[in-house]
Amino acid sequence: MPSYTLNVNGKDHVVSVSSSSMPLLWVLRDVIGLTGTKYGCGIEICGACTVWLNGQPEKSCDVDVSSAAGKRITTIEGLSADRSHPAQKAWILHQVPQCGYCQSGMLMRVAGAMAAGHHGSSIASEVNNVCVCGTYPRIKTAVSGL
Ligand code: FES
Ligand code: FES
Repeated sequence: MPSYTLNVNGKDHVVSVSSSSMPLLWVLRDVIGLTGTKYGCGIEICGACTVWLNGQPEKSCDVDVSSAAGKRITTIEGLSADRSHPAQKAWILHQVPQCGYCQSGMLMRVAGAMAAGHHGSSIASEVNNVCVCGTYPRIKTAVSGL
C-alpha cells in the first residue's frame, strides 16, 4: 500500500492508502478522522469538500492523495482553534447555517476569498458553493461585513 506524509493543520500524518489516486477527501475523513470536511457531489460541483492546499481553496474530492503530499493542507478544523476567524464569527452572529452540511466547505471558500484580499460583496461573487438549504441570503449578509 502506498504511504504518504500529509501535513494537515500544521501536523504531519503518515497515511497508508489502497491507491495513490484515493481522493484527499477520503483520506481526511476516513484515514485521519477529520470529518468536518464533507462529501456532497464527488464531482467538483458543490464545494462541500473544500479545504486549502498551500492556502488556496481546493475541492478535495478531486485531489489525489499523492498530489496533496508535501503541501500544507488546512481543513475547517484548522481554520482557527476557537472559532475566532472573522468569517466564523460572522456565521455565528448571523446564524447562517440551516442543516449545516455545506457550511464547512462554504466557510473555507469564504475565508480563502478573504485571504486573497476580497471583502464584502466581492467575497460573495467569488463563492459558488452549493447550499441545498438555501442559506444564500444569510451568507450574503454575513459576508457583507467582512
Ligand atoms: S464533494 Fe467535492 S465538490 Fe462536491
Ligand atoms: S445549510 Fe444545509 S446544505 Fe447548506
